[in-house]
Amino acid sequence: MAARDTNRRRRVLTGITTTGTPHLGNYVGAIRPAIAASREAGVESFFFLADYHALIKSDDPARVRRSRQEIAATWLACGLDAERVVFYRQSDIREIPELTWLLTCVTAKGLLNRAHAYKAAVDQNVANGEDADAGVTAGLYMYPVLMAADILAFNAHQVPVGRDQIQHIEMARDIAQRFNHLHGAAYRAAAGVDGEPFVLPEALIEESVATLPGLDGRKMSKSYDNTIPLFEGGERRLRETIARIVTDSRAPGEPKDPAESHLYAIYRAFASADEARALEADLIAGLGWGEAKQRLFERVERELAPLRERYQSLIARPDELEDILRHGAEKARAVAGPFVAHLRDAVGLSDFRRDVAAGRADTKAAGAAAPADDDAPTALLVKGPSARDFSLTIAYSKRGEFATGDLGDKPAAIALRRRIDALDGLDVAIGTREDGRAELQLLLDGAAVARSDGLEAADAEAERHKAVESIRLRRER
Ligand code: TRP
Repeated sequence: MAARDTNRRRRVLTGITTTGTPHLGNYVGAIRPAIAASREAGVESFFFLADYHALIKSDDPARVRRSRQEIAATWLACGLDAERVVFYRQSDIREIPELTWLLTCVTAKGLLNRAHAYKAAVDQNVANGEDADAGVTAGLYMYPVLMAADILAFNAHQVPVGRDQIQHIEMARDIAQRFNHLHGAAYRAAAGVDGEPFVLPEALIEESVATLPGLDGRKMSKSYDNTIPLFEGGERRLRETIARIVTDSRAPGEPKDPAESHLYAIYRAFASADEARALEADLIAGLGWGEAKQRLFERVERELAPLRERYQSLIARPDELEDILRHGAEKARAVAGPFVAHLRDAVGLSDFRRDVAAGRADTKAAGAAAPADDDAPTALLVKGPSARDFSLTIAYSKRGEFATGDLGDKPAAIALRRRIDALDGLDVAIGTREDGRAELQLLLDGAAVARSDGLEAADAEAERHKAVESIRLRRER
């Protein structure tokens, strides 16, 4: 693990795409385990509404808008403590799209070709005899990179996701590794740390749950239209929807096979081990499907009723939701902001002035009169007075310095030193020596108080620039 991370708590991050209305599959597969994990000691949790991802799936603004509110209210109603965790909207974090591009540029196109969601779309097109990429946006194609940025912007250790998302976490690891390899050294220099820029995230799957099946036994998913709503429609919708769960045609009294029953699988996601064993035994003993559905409804309703009440009061107060999310975005950006700034720096998108200060400015390539480029300016440093002749030397780089000559006595040398150290009224000029060579002059209120050795005229301007820069660096300290 990266050295910069060894001292911090385990960071767990999860996002939920804001399309549609939360269903039991979202609750069981993501929301509930993530909230439980957020309450553990030693865990630092990040939760966000993946509303940029929503744009990939939906071009209906009204739906995106409504879904963001519903999902925000859902997470809070389900027990998310916005004070304890970091809860925000993806689209409020400018660093995420910024990092997405940095990652895009180290991501192999072939990696994205293998993404399940993209491949499924292509396979579908081919099966329909259409062009392979018909209707496929670049957004869908880039989905895994945006998701990697979500995770890597905060260097999350663990990401609670459904099984269908494991591949995306693996891709985030691949992309992180590639970036670490290419830019790790530059990052360490930019950030002044020892570790790798990115922690490699792990998927966190709640084994007892896996993917919740829907009404028809396939994975519960909006796109299969087989979901059981979490809060929408209240208790009545819950009861009606559970009644529509597909079962086999075995009559009451006939033994049922719980392992083959997705009704039982849904029940298990809510029940204790004892409750699950009891229903299992009853099904084997011939419990009718109608009664089994009633048992399922009661068990789910027992858990959801109090949450539903909180949900309804939250959804009625959008301004309060807005405040909570903005506060979360501030906390999130306090983490991602400085980190992504270092990453930008590492890939070469750095501040020109700091490049000069760090000795990274490629003044040769720029065609300037080239100083030796390993002789970067350092913060202006006054040394002395020397005991022998009461002179001062004033260094502006490893090799470049001014010297005052004998100042007469120690108090005079100390007084001058103080004036230079105060940095007021300092400037640097290029002069000509008696032997015709150039020199730098350190000016104090317009008068030369110290001089460099002789310089080639062609080097003088670059040297002057270094000296001026060294004064600036000293001011910034
Ligand atoms: N792709 C996830 C899903 O559909 C949502 C998501 C987006 C996400 N970014 C993420 C989940 C980052 C975890 C971490 O469920």
